[in-house]
Parts: sequence; structure tokens; C-alpha cells
Amino acid sequence: MPFAFFSYLGSEPPVSDDARQQRSSARHVPVLLDAVLSYLNPAPGAIVVDCTVGSGGHSAAILSRIAPGGLLIGLDRDPDMLQLATQRLDGLGNVRLCHADFADLRQVLDELGVDRVDGVLADLGISSDQLADPGRGFSFRLSGPLDMRMDPTAPGPTAAELVNKLPEPELARILKQYGEERYARRIAAAIVRARRRSRIETSEQLAEIVRAAVPAGYERGRIDPATRTFQALRIVVNRELDALCSLLEQLPYCLRPGGRAVLISFHSLEDRLVKRAFADRELWERLTKKPIRPSATEIATNPRARSAKLRAARLRKSLDRSPTGSR
Ligand SMILES: C[S@@+](CC[C@H](N)C(=O)[O-])C[C@H]1O[C@@H](n2cnc3c(N)ncnc32)[C@H](O)[C@@H]1O
Repeated sequence: MPFAFFSYLGSEPPVSDDARQQRSSARHVPVLLDAVLSYLNPAPGAIVVDCTVGSGGHSAAILSRIAPGGLLIGLDRDPDMLQLATQRLDGLGNVRLCHADFADLRQVLDELGVDRVDGVLADLGISSDQLADPGRGFSFRLSGPLDMRMDPTAPGPTAAELVNKLPEPELARILKQYGEERYARRIAAAIVRARRRSRIETSEQLAEIVRAAVPAGYERGRIDPATRTFQALRIVVNRELDALCSLLEQLPYCLRPGGRAVLISFHSLEDRLVKRAFADRELWERLTKKPIRPSATEIATNPRARSAKLRAARLRKSLDRSPTGSR
């Protein structure tokens, strides 16, 4: 599969006019930035992949460490994010941006003619910029089409297609498995009742259905009752755990011996996969025995950091030539 690459000072990635107008600047604040730099330890001349370049917060800091002579390869599934990264990283150094899923990392490197890299960062999930865009349907606080695809050019299904089509037991399974939602069956039943009346089209409609389905005092008011349902649907729409498994499998085929991987996850399902991968002592030397969490000060200034967990490891030995595109 050919990937769309953008390099500096090259052409800009494709982006809608609306996105161009709405997004003159990024809102996203990079999480655990000091820890990322400390564990990734990027040195002048290094080749580093930012698998989730987003609006380029982490990448900008990495670029300042790898100059002169380094190369930052930035991937994102979302063309709008690549536009923000382009604005942010322009002029900061040697950058190749690529519209790709990090599940295809080995193929991306092959297309760039890069054999091994010194460091790989993945800051999982979605960015505040995506969350703040009502047109994407990620937020239960905003009303917009219930889409949730990170890559709006992907064929789907969208979250609306899932909630309007899936059988009730399958919906309940998804909410339980990917949202760890205690009231999964109640919520699935409420969704099915609601969609019999009319199709569920917006994030606001879905959030209201979920809020009305759960008992008062849900999770002692700590989170909006729609949080776990939205998380579950987003994970399924974007096959997030499959992509993460594929990335973790490919890292030993992409990093040089001694190269470092740093992963930031935002829920236990992701963190479990990262922990399990780094537990392979033949391949990995763990740099973090316990995950690194943001300080109270960081959480106060950037509430999105609240559930972040960073794990880092150094590759002991590289593996030769993976079956690429293992998805
Ligand atoms: C938390 S944000 C990263 C923010 C970034 N570190 C920064 O400082 O601006 C995650 C980004 O990764 C992208 N993303 C998530 N899963 C992806 C995948 N499987 N492949 C490529 N990009 C992905 C999302 O579209 C989003 O832009």
C-alpha cells in the first residue's frame, strides 16, 4: 500500500477548508514531555519515529534534541493532525510526515528506505484537538455527527453505524470489553430501544441515552456516564488495540539494538498490552519497572494527562525482517 509522505519544506498534506479555518493553532499540550525526552534520550543525528505525531508537541521537543543531522519521522492516521504538525514543525529540522497507521510502521520505514531507527514514541489515543472538533464526534460534551474515525478517509464503520446496526448482545459485549462498563447491558438495551424510535445520529443523542440508562450517582459522579461508552466505541471504530499489538510486534524489527521505545497509554487495556510486550526479557530491557505517571502539577494544568501511563524499554537485540503489514 503506498503511503502519502510530506517532507520539509515540502507540500502540505491534504486537509479540508473547514479544518484549515478552524485550526490555526493547536490546543493539545504534550503529556509527560520531560519523561518522554528522558527515556527516549534522543541524541544529535538520531532517527526517531513519532508514531502519533498529532499536532507535533512531542515531535518539536525531539527535533530540538536530534539536530543537527537527525531525522524525525512522524506518522498520523488523521490528515487534519498532519496539517497541524506541518504548521508546528516547519523549519525545526529534518522531518518526514506520513499519513499512515502505526500498525504499518515497518512498511512505512521500508518505503522511506530506512532500515533501523534509534527511538520510537507512541502517545496513544486522540488529541485535545480532535476531541474539541464537534465534527468528529469524539466528545460526549459536544454535539456532532457520531463518527469517531481518526482517519475520516477510512471506509468505516463509524460509531453511528455501530450503535444503529449491532445486535444488542454484541453492543453490550463491546461496552463491557472495551469500556469496562459495569452497566453495559442496560446501556445496550437503552440504545436498542432508542434506535427503534429513530436513528441515533449525534454524539449528544448517544450521550443522553447513556446518561438516562445508568443509575443516579454513577461512579460517584467522578466521570460522565457516557465516558466509558464513548471510549469503547472509539476503540472499536479505530481498531485501536489491534493497531497497538501490531506496533508492539514490529518494534524489534524497526529499532536498532539499544534503541528505545516509549509508549504512553490512557487506559488499562492499552497499558496491559505494553506491559506484556516489554516483559519479554530476551528482547527488552525495561527502563520503567512501574509506569511513570504525571505529577499533580501536570494534571492540574493539563487534566487530559490524568490517566496517562508511560512505559519505556531498550531493545536488547533486533529481529530480522518481519512479515510486514502483519495486520
Ligand atoms: C494523543 S495524540 C498525540 C499528540 C502528540 N504527541 C502531540 O504532542 O501533539 C494521538 C495522535 O495519534 C493519532 N493516532 C492514534 N492511533 C493511531 C494509529 N494507529 N496510527 C497513526 N496515528 C494514530 C491520532 O490521530 C492523534 O493525532
